[in-house]
Amino acid sequence: MSEFNPALALASLGGTQSDAQNRTLGTVAIRWFGDRLELLDQRLLPGQEQWLSLASAVEVASCIRDMVVRGAPAIGISAAYGMALAAQQARADQWRHDLAEASRVLAASRPTAVNLFWALKRIATVLDDCEDLAVARARLTETAEAIHREDLAANLAMADHALSVMAEEAPFSVLTHCNTGALATGGYGTALGVIRRLHESGRLQRVYADETRPWLQGSRLTAWELTRDGIPVTLNADGAAAWVLARGDVRWVVVGADRITANGDVANKIGTYSLAVLARHHGVKFMVVAPSSTVDMSLQSGESIPIEERGGDEVRQVQGQPLAPAQVDVFNPVFDVTPAGLIDAIVTEKGVIEQPGPTAMAAVFGAH
Ligand code: MRU
Repeated sequence: MSEFNPALALASLGGTQSDAQNRTLGTVAIRWFGDRLELLDQRLLPGQEQWLSLASAVEVASCIRDMVVRGAPAIGISAAYGMALAAQQARADQWRHDLAEASRVLAASRPTAVNLFWALKRIATVLDDCEDLAVARARLTETAEAIHREDLAANLAMADHALSVMAEEAPFSVLTHCNTGALATGGYGTALGVIRRLHESGRLQRVYADETRPWLQGSRLTAWELTRDGIPVTLNADGAAAWVLARGDVRWVVVGADRITANGDVANKIGTYSLAVLARHHGVKFMVVAPSSTVDMSLQSGESIPIEERGGDEVRQVQGQPLAPAQVDVFNPVFDVTPAGLIDAIVTEKGVIEQPGPTAMAAVFGAH
């Protein structure tokens, strides 16, 4: 079976051909072959590029939980393909039961990124209309591919929207956190897509990339992606961010999101909230870039977002090497919530929400 290539699929859609041309879509992290899903093992980057081949929803769920694939949109896309695989394996006499079980296992993999639950809900709605297993198999594959393709298209659209609110004429620097690039999405990236677009249009001076302790998405993934694509990047320790902003060449902090609530609060990688506080102090603008699949209008505010806590060894060790006493207590929340009041702009494929709040969010996404 041939590989599903979202960039080619995007280019084949009327009206979006130019979007896929002249853009650095970046490294692919998710490959779909119709009967198997391949994921680039992000735990091994930047040292090794190794692909894992998966044939079941249970395997996909393990890969999400263990961070083989990570980043909110990439998690949602992978879960959708996981359901397509589950349909292929489902037993004829109890396929609805088997698919419900697969969905339950995928939903239990990680709690914070709402894209996972959004994708599973979209799949469930499609399944409601499937009269038999053969139809379900075809429709779930179609839907997973559509989710993948639409995510890439959303990233390209968001980059254009974002640049329209960045008023600076001369090239300027930006600071980003975590990894929001091609590795975290269907391609191109959310915040990193905006950064790619700035670079493509000659408006980017430099990207400062927080290393993003403890999992080091910034140093292991963002610095790797940007270096490969020839985009000027300087890596800094998270604790250096205030000093970077104090120097004056950074005009925007640009980050992604894992869940955005009805009042405009944003859950994203731990350390995002401190950056928003720092940005406000230094008069630097703060932008959140995420597809509408990251918006959760069912939650009124960030207080209700489930924040994942991961094992203490992620903080005590780096790649098995001890950094701290083996028994020391660790608090390892891997996301935090930035209050809407610290955010200058939320960018989705639907457009830009400046000074986000409940009214502006409801105007774009409707009341729940
Ligand atoms: O724990 P991770 O690596 O899945 O966290 C990823 C982030 O927090 C990203 O900033 C977010 O998912 C946006 S990715 C486009």
